[in-house]
Amino acid sequence: MSSEIKAVDICSEYCQSDEIIDFGALTETKVDFGPGSVSRLADHVKSLGGTKVLLVTDPGIAEAGHMEWVMMILTKGGIEVMPYLDVRENPTTDDVASCVDGVKGEGIDLIIGLGGGSSLDTAKGCNFILTNGGHMKDYWGSGKATDDMLPLIAIPTTAGTGSECQSYAIIADSETHVKMACGDKKAAARIAILDPELTLTQPANVTSHTGIDALSHAIETSVTTKRSDISYQYSKLSFDLLNESFETVLKDPKNIEARSKMLLGAAYAGTAIESSMLGAAHAAANPLTAQFGIIHGAAVGLMLPHVIKYNSDDPDTKKIYDDLYSEDLSRRVSELLAIADIPSTLSRYDVGKSNVSSLSKDASSQWTGTFNPRKVGEGDFADLYESAF
Ligand SMILES: [Fe+2]
Repeated sequence: MSSEIKAVDICSEYCQSDEIIDFGALTETKVDFGPGSVSRLADHVKSLGGTKVLLVTDPGIAEAGHMEWVMMILTKGGIEVMPYLDVRENPTTDDVASCVDGVKGEGIDLIIGLGGGSSLDTAKGCNFILTNGGHMKDYWGSGKATDDMLPLIAIPTTAGTGSECQSYAIIADSETHVKMACGDKKAAARIAILDPELTLTQPANVTSHTGIDALSHAIETSVTTKRSDISYQYSKLSFDLLNESFETVLKDPKNIEARSKMLLGAAYAGTAIESSMLGAAHAAANPLTAQFGIIHGAAVGLMLPHVIKYNSDDPDTKKIYDDLYSEDLSRRVSELLAIADIPSTLSRYDVGKSNVSSLSKDASSQWTGTFNPRKVGEGDFADLYESAF
């Protein structure tokens, strides 16, 4: 285990090499990073003993041609593939069940998740049920899988959730709609393949929303009560990479260097989340998504400048923000929201002041808010929402 994480000189060093980055300080996931790295997929499958794999993805990825490309790499490598391409956004227990139904008893020995956070979460959810049986709610929480799980390879096509470096699957209960975070060290991907070429085809609004989400992960993880010196190094590296490249990918979507930095930045932030969790911006954003259907990245981005100001009243937290960004951090986030064309006020949505009390009630019961550096109660959330109109 390394105690110091070095910044990666990505374009001169890693993009051209076959080197696998060890994120070892916080996660056991090995990362194969760089343009074209997905071409090494069959070798990675074989290194983990895979011969017959389940490929979990969504229709958009199939349409973009990525699924076909990945299937060809696998088939050429002599690996049998069973594809599941019905992943939906914010996957539910029904989605996991339908994925499991298709491959139960087929002798699958490895799972590949290809796509955004929803594909990776569905793949992880499927792994729990295929190997340990029962229902997703049995794994709600941490470390509840008793039997071994199948090796997972995660191939993100967006620079956002960082799910490729996390052991949690977020699966919603189909009946109650409650989002369950089901985590187990065995559920984390054994290998994450970060190939920025796969991120070139995403629609512009996906780039902007996932980018703001990743940035919010870097910022929130840097100050939580669970942060450590090591997790902060990941947060800081992530922030620098994302802050430096976000404007470029918005203006010049084919810029592979900027796409590389975004993808690596999102993975670093995901690694930080694994140990430091998130804070009040995510707690405030979740009810906006649940009650008003506001896209996750837009909801978090909108609340984040207000949460940064709120947290800055705590001198220790303010010091960290100042270390993260030498100028006004909340203003920088607002600036990036404007460049990404993401609304910065609640008035731009169908949210009224009369909704504040139900939103605050919901926000104050979010688990993620408990890790915020300053305590946030229902009244504080009401103030945060009020300030966002
Ligand atoms: Fe997020």
